[in-house]
Amino acid sequence: AGDERIAQIQEQLKSYPNFPKKGILFWDIFSILNKPDYYRLLRDILVEEAKKISPPIECVAGLEARGFLFGPLISLELNVPFVPIRKKGKLPGNLLSVCYSKEYGPDVLEIQEGSIEHGKRVLIIDDLLATGGTMVAGCHLIKKAGANVAACLVVIELEGLKGRDAVPDNVISLIKL
Ligand code: PRP
Repeated sequence: AGDERIAQIQEQLKSYPNFPKKGILFWDIFSILNKPDYYRLLRDILVEEAKKISPPIECVAGLEARGFLFGPLISLELNVPFVPIRKKGKLPGNLLSVCYSKEYGPDVLEIQEGSIEHGKRVLIIDDLLATGGTMVAGCHLIKKAGANVAACLVVIELEGLKGRDAVPDNVISLIKL
């Protein structure tokens, strides 16, 4: 969706050089959330994108941590469950897990067993796609759970890192940097 509303949101985005470590330019999504009019606008656009997916999505899975800021907003509007995908050690109960490498090193992502019904069409959401490592792990977890990835939705895509090429499923991004 290459519309004027997205340009407005992009204008509000702040970035921080050399965070969390030297050489990384950090795009701070909270620079949108601290302005309610822009957060609402961003929510509306994400909901529109989610509604466009056909056949309709049946579940939203959010990637820790900033996927949690958008996933529930979408799931409520579409009246489908929201399910968290979290970093190792944060979720209770029986878990499925996947190892992955992200922008700053190795990690493990987990999902609760039985949290998504088999065969459901899942939308995975996060704030940002960099190398794609996190999103790839998310896709693998959804499939491990016996569900299908309908699409991967991110607010920001760092195109130069070619994360999209690593992700096995359809990636939708609003702002390409
Ligand atoms: C950031 C971002 C994505 C991920 C993207 O999260 O919010 O989840 O990195 O990077 P990738 O495409 O190279 O995998 P981070 O790992 O910093 O974790 P946090 O959200 O818990 O702070």
